[in-house]
Amino acid sequence: MITGAGGRTGRAAASHLLAHGHAVRVVGRDPSRLADLTGRGAEPRRADQSDPAAMAAALHGAEAAYLVLQPNYLPDHPDFAAFQDRAAAALAEAVAESGVPRVVALSSWGAQHASGTGPVAGLHRFEERLSAVPGVHLTFLRAGYYLENFLDHVDSVRTHRTITAPFDPDVPLPMITTSDVGVAAAEELLRPRPGTPIVRELHGARDVTMHEVARAIATAIGHPVTYERCTTQAFDERLRSAGVSDSVRAMMTEVPHAVNTGHLRAVQRRTPDTTTPTSLEDFIEAEFVPALGTR
Ligand SMILES: NC(=O)c1ccc[n+]([C@@H]2O[C@H](COP(=O)([O-])OP(=O)(O)OC[C@H]3O[C@@H](n4cnc5c(N)ncnc54)[C@H](OP(=O)(O)O)[C@@H]3O)[C@@H](O)[C@H]2O)c1
Repeated sequence: MITGAGGRTGRAAASHLLAHGHAVRVVGRDPSRLADLTGRGAEPRRADQSDPAAMAAALHGAEAAYLVLQPNYLPDHPDFAAFQDRAAAALAEAVAESGVPRVVALSSWGAQHASGTGPVAGLHRFEERLSAVPGVHLTFLRAGYYLENFLDHVDSVRTHRTITAPFDPDVPLPMITTSDVGVAAAEELLRPRPGTPIVRELHGARDVTMHEVARAIATAIGHPVTYERCTTQAFDERLRSAGVSDSVRAMMTEVPHAVNTGHLRAVQRRTPDTTTPTSLEDFIEAEFVPALGTR
């Protein structure tokens, strides 16, 4: 059973399971948005992640479930942490109520910390709530920085040949595609993991700095592209003028500080289990360059 099946990692997880012949139940607020998956044999269920009764009904009888706290941000939400906590509480209640024996939950690098990590702190609390449910075999997938975040910079690369962000240009980050996260989730669902909660970080193909991202895009498009580090204050101003709420801005501006100081970092070693196949260059060729052409 897959929540967030209309989203990025959930859709990739469901697709992978269907392609390998597994029975899949897909959950979303509007099953019509899951038509591509139901057309390939998935069983649709309507449920909102914040509705414990609907989620418990959707989970009932499943052998295993992939749970995603979604979406990343609601830019204009007045209290996004409270939104995350409501959904996390409802999902944990639904797991307890349904008796689903195996859960793979999407979390993030840095979720070992209770604070100072922006939205990731909500995933820390999500992990805590699920860990308190008795009798369920849990795996937390702590995914690295999504390469898809760079799609926000498509316009700036096209117009100014720059990527501007508040990250230290030389700090390497574990960067991963959402499709690789989804495939890892699907594989975990099929893998028995008895015992205490397991944490598995997902680091992508290799750690990458912002300078390397700019260089790789430059190589792909055949034009120079520069990375420009902005101050957190300038980042905050940009978010404010885009209409982002105080709550969400406070979260988003915590992230660069956490990354630049090493508070937000991967703690597991890079191994075959933490490494995923899609490289920065693959992502740029398959997603970034096409987006430059179409937007
Ligand atoms: N960005 C990063 O670098 C990063 C890194 C690690 C972990 N993460 C975590 O990854 C998770 C997101 O995973 P994802 O990328 O697979 O999800 P996603 O694609 O962002 O999720 C999109 C789904 O969110 C649902 N949604 C949209 N607005 C909603 C609302 N107001 N209320 C309830 N649901 C709503 C929609 O589901 P319906 O089908 O129901 O409409 C939509 O299909 C977050 O928990 C994030 O913190 C992010």
